[in-house]
Amino acid sequence: MTNRTPLIAGNWKMFKTCPEAVETAGQLVKLVAATTDIDVMIAPPFTALAPVADVVRGSCVSLGAQNLFWEAQGAFTGEISPAMLVSAGCKYVIIGHSERRQYFNETDETVNKKIRAAINNDLTPVMCVGESEKERESKDTFSVLDKQVKKGLEGFSSDDLKSLVIAYEPIWAIGTGKTATSGQAQEVHQFLRSVLEKSFGNMLAKSVRILYGGSVKPNNIAELMAMPDIDGALVGGASLDPETFSKIVRFKE
Ligand code: PGA
Repeated sequence: MTNRTPLIAGNWKMFKTCPEAVETAGQLVKLVAATTDIDVMIAPPFTALAPVADVVRGSCVSLGAQNLFWEAQGAFTGEISPAMLVSAGCKYVIIGHSERRQYFNETDETVNKKIRAAINNDLTPVMCVGESEKERESKDTFSVLDKQVKKGLEGFSSDDLKSLVIAYEPIWAIGTGKTATSGQAQEVHQFLRSVLEKSFGNMLAKSVRILYGGSVKPNNIAELMAMPDIDGALVGGASLDPETFSKIVRFKE
């Protein structure tokens, strides 16, 4: 039994122009209007953040960004600062998604700096971790995750991490239609909570929300959410369509 409020988050990745994002967010707000006991977040691309903020303001849907840079400002062409995200209406920021680790040289060290920057600016960090198929097959899942969590959170106190959200996203399950079974996910979530407990104590370990991500769909969300250590989902493909995403948010109905 926990008192962690579930979080269902949609990662739109590099999809949707401004008008498309506004349209999707508008429909979603209507479809999930009756939701009270679940936090809902969508992370559109940077260009759509401000217009989508206007659409979700006052609703139960919060806004998140898909990345940030850790410096406050400066000559960093193409980067976005934490304060810029806050001023665009963001409450959350996804950090260290496997696609960023794979294609944009994100490392545990840069993840660490980005989490620090998010926390210093009152943005809720959603730190993504996950093993590749090869790592799972060679039984390295736990050691890979242990390293990602410890290095990503190095130097923080439990107080710093009060708002932290972790998303466990096995790389082999992202966009592949191959969801981890609820048992596989639960096993990892429990492990992640034990890593948090060893480093930051029982109180923090119990309060951090750990989301599962990787081919979450309306037909598998309920089974995943029934697991004691799964506190929500980070949804990619199925978050792009408001009807489908709202079915995930309203999985209890
Ligand atoms: P997916 O993506 O739901 O399309 O598998 C999840 C993610 O990358 O966050």
